[in-house]
Amino acid sequence: MQLKQTFYLTFICLCAGILPANEPLVVYSHRHYAADEELFASFTESTGIPVHVLKAGANELMERLKAEGERTRADILITADAGRLDEAKAAGLLAQIHSEILKTRIPEPYRDVDSQWFGFPRRARVLVYAPDRVNPEELSTYEDLAHPKWRGRLLCRSSNNIYNQSLLASMIAAHGEGPALNWARDVRRNMARPPQGSDRDQLRAVAAGLGDVAIVNTYYLGLLLHSPDPRERALAKTLRIFFPNQQDRGTHMNISGGAVLKSSSQKDNATRLLEFLVSDQAQEVFPAVTYEYPVVEGIEWSDLQKSWGSFHADDLNLSQLGEDGRKSVQLFNLADWE
Ligand SMILES: [Fe+2]
Repeated sequence: MQLKQTFYLTFICLCAGILPANEPLVVYSHRHYAADEELFASFTESTGIPVHVLKAGANELMERLKAEGERTRADILITADAGRLDEAKAAGLLAQIHSEILKTRIPEPYRDVDSQWFGFPRRARVLVYAPDRVNPEELSTYEDLAHPKWRGRLLCRSSNNIYNQSLLASMIAAHGEGPALNWARDVRRNMARPPQGSDRDQLRAVAAGLGDVAIVNTYYLGLLLHSPDPRERALAKTLRIFFPNQQDRGTHMNISGGAVLKSSSQKDNATRLLEFLVSDQAQEVFPAVTYEYPVVEGIEWSDLQKSWGSFHADDLNLSQLGEDGRKSVQLFNLADWE
C-alpha cells in the first residue's frame, strides 16, 4: 500500500514538474562520430542524466535554433568548428558559463573570450601529399601554396566549407585582408580541379594522382587508415602528412566545441556535460576513436598521431575566427574560389 502511494506521489510530482531529477539534456549536434555516443553514454552512466541528441547539418541546426528562439528544447549546441559557435554567439543564442573546470582545463586559444563556447577536441588543418611526386622539402607554409610551382597540383574542397573559411580567417588575422585575398586567388589558380567534395575526397584524389597536395584536417587521414574498406586503407597508406608554418606562427588549428543555450532551463546540468567532455576519461576518447587531438594538455595521443610527430600549433585565439570568418566568405567570392 505504502509502495503504491509513493508511486502515485512520484507520478503526480513528475507530471507537475516538481521532480526535475534526470530530465534529459537535449543536444543539437553537427558532429557525426560514434565517439560522441560513447561519451554521452558514459556521462549518463556517471550522472544519471539522459542525453538526447538531434543531429543535422550545420546550416540546418543553426537555422532551426534561430527559428525556435526561446522555445527551443535544445540545452546544448555542439559544432565541428569555432566559426559556427561564434555565429551562434553573434545571434545571441548562447549563455555565459562560469566554470573553473572549463577555464583551467581548456587552454585560452580554444575557448571563447566571453566564456560562451568551449573547445573539446582540437583539429589541425594540414597538407597531405603523395611522397612519390612531392619531396617534403618543397613544402613549408600555407603561404607557399600560392607559388606558381604548385600550378595544377593542389586539391581542396569548396569555400562554403567552414574549415576553409576558418583557415582563410587565420590568414586574415596573420596578414590582413588584401594579402589573404591574393593568397586565396593564387591557391585557387594552382588547383588541379575546381574545388569539390569532402576532405576525404581530396585524400582519395591525391592517392589517385589527380593532384599532389591536399589541404585537409588530419583526422580524415586517420579515419581513412581505419576504414572498413581495405581499398581505402591501402590508398591512405600511400599518403603523408606535413604540418605547415612550423618556423613561424604554427599550423592552423580549430576545435569542435560546445555551448549552453541561453534559453536552457538546465544550465547546471548542461555545464556538467561540457565539464565531462574535458575530463581525462572523455579526452582520451578523441585521439583513440576520431583521431582528433585532445584539447587538455597531458592527454596521451594515439599511436597514429605520435607517428605523425609533434608540431607547433598556431595559438591564435579562435574567437577571432568568427568575425574574420564572415569576411573570408567575401574574400573567397572575390578570389573565384567557388
Ligand atoms: Fe570534419
